[in-house]
Amino acid sequence: MGRNSLAHTRDIKYEWCESYSVGNPIIDRQHAKLLTLCAEAVQCEDASSSDGREKFHTILHEMAVYAKEHFAAEEALLRTRNCPMLSGHLDEHTHFQIALSDLLFSAMQGNLDRVRLSQHLSEWWVGHILGSDMACKLYLADM
Ligand SMILES: [Fe+2]
Ligand SMILES: [Fe+2]
Repeated sequence: MGRNSLAHTRDIKYEWCESYSVGNPIIDRQHAKLLTLCAEAVQCEDASSSDGREKFHTILHEMAVYAKEHFAAEEALLRTRNCPMLSGHLDEHTHFQIALSDLLFSAMQGNLDRVRLSQHLSEWWVGHILGSDMACKLYLADM
């Protein structure tokens, strides 16, 4: 039913593929997991039941926890290797964590615009992984 009306957000691919690789299997696995969580969030974005809302909230929470772990791993690598983009990259991670906390808060209050959220997630994860993380590939890649 609602699936077709949300085709524009569902068209975004959240499947990790080899061209997304930053040359580090650990970071790549974390990116793949985060993209899977994005896909799951989009799949339940039009679920209006309380079960759907609960599942959505669980996914967002898992994403926030996992993002924290992922950012820490990535930042440690960039710091150790003296990446010149470190401070800008840290800012992006911080902003994302704040945005995710805000979304979680809205979700808890029951007034979350899930279509807007999935657009936000796609911009963030796909945009960040393919843009900012990729720009640091030299510093993230396994040596
Ligand atoms: Fe990343
Ligand atoms: Fe990053």
